[in-house]
Amino acid sequence: MTALGNLDLLDGWEIPRVGLGVWQTPDGPDCERAVAAALEAGYRLIDTAQDYGNELSVGRAIRASGIPREEIFVTTKFRPDGRQPFTAAQESVERLGLDYLDLYLVHWPEGGPTWAWPELEQAAKAGLTRSIGVSNFSADEMAELAKVAEIPAVLNQVYFSPFVHRRGLAEFCENAGVVLQAYSPLGTGDHLTDPVVQRIAAETGHTPAQVLIRWAYDRGVSVIPKSANPARITENFAIADVHLDTAALEALDALDTSGGTSAAMYPNGKWWS
Ligand code: A2P
Repeated sequence: MTALGNLDLLDGWEIPRVGLGVWQTPDGPDCERAVAAALEAGYRLIDTAQDYGNELSVGRAIRASGIPREEIFVTTKFRPDGRQPFTAAQESVERLGLDYLDLYLVHWPEGGPTWAWPELEQAAKAGLTRSIGVSNFSADEMAELAKVAEIPAVLNQVYFSPFVHRRGLAEFCENAGVVLQAYSPLGTGDHLTDPVVQRIAAETGHTPAQVLIRWAYDRGVSVIPKSANPARITENFAIADVHLDTAALEALDALDTSGGTSAAMYPNGKWWS
């Protein structure tokens, strides 16, 4: 377990609360360096996806780290583009050069929220992955999936920050025992210059990125900031002593523009048909 702790998954496994996201980090030396820097800084959760095209580098860096496999939590995601989820999981495991995945997610609900699930369940039963879950699913889509799932989805990964604070979705997940995980907690960098975030950073003596990541942590979700820069990767994990008091948390909560939505796609529409 890392200094920042784990969250329980409802199938009995645990996931670290803070991890490294590698969306938009191209495959190659930069990605390997980012993953190596994260593991060195103490991260034990690395989040990749078939769609990112960088599983090869992620796997290489994990294997080169010398850290025992069971101490690192590896997530990848099924790109729902017509391929078969089970075969795609086998290919991911091969590209990563690992014996198994910790978590395999449906990356988005293209074609509906349920069709891929039986093969994700098959991947879990075959030991290709320990846990299975979803990404970019609304509360309604999760409810539809829960009706047919034999093995439950343990996690839903969505775009989540004070500016898009999906309270409706978070409540749904909490009631179902599902972990909510925040991607793009910095708004892909856009939220770092917000005046409220900057004021709280100045008042607490931390950086805007640390304030935003700590907010997500304090709101009880798992959070995966992306950076390809080793210094920023270290900075983003150094949130143990960031203390946001009630006034700061409430000021950040007030930034929400989503109305506490239970949808997954606000403010951007679906990128699939
Ligand atoms: P870089 O990879 O060059 O560090 P998000 O996690 O919301 O998707 O945000 C990712 C974006 O924020 C990337 O452009 C990343 O750039 C930048 N970023 C990540 N961490 C920091 C940080 N601590 N300070 C400034 N920018 C950061």
